[in-house]
Amino acid sequence: MADGGGGYGVAARILHWSLAALILALFALGIAAVELDYYNRFRGDALLWHRQLGVVAFAVALAVLLRRLAGGVPSPVASLRTWEVFAASAAHRLLLFFALLLPLSGYCISTSSGAAVPFFGWELPALFAVSDALREAAEAAHFYGGYAMLALVCAHAGAAFKHHFVDRNEVLTRMIRGAGGR
Ligand code: HEM
Repeated sequence: MADGGGGYGVAARILHWSLAALILALFALGIAAVELDYYNRFRGDALLWHRQLGVVAFAVALAVLLRRLAGGVPSPVASLRTWEVFAASAAHRLLLFFALLLPLSGYCISTSSGAAVPFFGWELPALFAVSDALREAAEAAHFYGGYAMLALVCAHAGAAFKHHFVDRNEVLTRMIRGAGGR
């Protein structure tokens, strides 16, 4: 993969924070849709917004992947230890994997009965037939993948804050202000 230089460019930063906001909103909406009482009037809204924003998150995650493939990732901050560089790189790849897997599995679950996915007044049709086996696999991926990603997001954000407040390096600031980060 190409080396993107000393910091994140503006496109990488906009995509990163858009994806972060979407994923956090999707967690909240997903948990609300499952936990709220069946008759609660917000339950339907939570599910509708979870599905619609899930489609948007898929598009943004795809854009993050394409940008990474085309523009590469910046060299790691020089003061990081080898294991930290390895762990961060693995976490970023896994986060991206889950950001693509969760909307795809959600789409399979939503369209398994042949129904379309509502999308801000439009409808995304069911593109392929979903067998019982595929629907069950998609439900498991969505459920366990969701909690795995939640744990990963907490570790990822926790590491970013530790770098900022304890190690006082430019890991977080270069994702906010760009190259150099200071
Ligand atoms: C409050 C939450 C978050 C914070 C504080 C945060 C912070 C950061 C920071 C500082 C970096 C740059 C690391 C480096 O320079 O090596 C980064 C990269 C990255 N983060 Fe986050 N992040 C958050 C949430 C998320 C979420 C929810 C995702 C979900 C997909 C995510 C996915 C990624 C990816 C894929 C990268 C690699 C950069 C890229 O591909 O453009 N982050 N994050």
